Amino acid sequence: MSAETAPERSETDVAPMEAEFDVVAGWTEEVVAALGPGHAIPAGCRGSGSPSALDWLAEALDLGAGSRILDAGAGVGGPAAYAAQRFGVRPVLVEPMTRACRAAARMFGLPVVAGSGEHLPVAGGAFDAAWCLGVLCTTSAKAALLAELRRVLTLGGRLGMLVFVQITPELPDAPEGNDSPTDAELADLLHAAGFDLVRKADAGGFAAAPSSWQRRVERVEQALAAAHGADPRRLQAHAQEQRMGRLLDGGHVAGRLVYAVAR
Ligand SMILES: C[S@@+](CC[C@H](N)C(=O)[O-])C[C@H]1O[C@@H](n2cnc3c(N)ncnc32)[C@H](O)[C@@H]1O
Repeated sequence: MSAETAPERSETDVAPMEAEFDVVAGWTEEVVAALGPGHAIPAGCRGSGSPSALDWLAEALDLGAGSRILDAGAGVGGPAAYAAQRFGVRPVLVEPMTRACRAAARMFGLPVVAGSGEHLPVAGGAFDAAWCLGVLCTTSAKAALLAELRRVLTLGGRLGMLVFVQITPELPDAPEGNDSPTDAELADLLHAAGFDLVRKADAGGFAAAPSSWQRRVERVEQALAAAHGADPRRLQAHAQEQRMGRLLDGGHVAGRLVYAVAR
């Protein structure tokens, strides 16, 4: 087919991951602007969810006032903003989706660079700490992502991760783009990339977010549904989230928090 006769791609015709991580990111920014800034962090935690899980990671990584941390695959920046607000860290965000980058910059005023985890636009050895939350399970280029995280960390640098690992041999109706490693594969990947795995925790074992946090998430969800409920991109993104929810509820995947050190 020639370029002249190729069908035009409609604005709503996007890949599921683009709908979930790019389009909804832009809408989230709009909704938070209308609802108020208190909604930004709860709405902006797209994979990490609970503050207690972020506290565990911050504690493990020894984050404190003035710590610089790279957030690879930062989404709209909720976890980085939480760490900045609660621990006084100075995060730098890298995220491939342009609308998510814009949302993070506008909602939180944090420094954001557009880029992928496999080609981090950051100098080697530039950080003592990095985290990467809910990202490894969305890419097949796991070794490349971990090699990059190792490259940008100093010797002894601390890495925190949230990874959704595969528990059962099959993942029925997995979200598009999901590529969860098993626990054993995760350990092997970390070792091969030059990390010592120091501590691991089951993300499901952490306290749920406080009800005030959950109410804010719900208000944002309701506002997104009211504004974009019939948009095929929201339906696509929502279906992705529901599929992941079913895998978690059915015990097919489980969240792991990881603390590893660069050797
Ligand atoms: C489940 S969201 C988590 C976002 C954020 N880390 C959080 O916890 O709120 C996964 C994020 O990873 C990003 N992502 C997907 N593939 C990536 C890659 N190859 N390198 C870096 N980020 C990636 C997506 O755009 C999305 O923002």
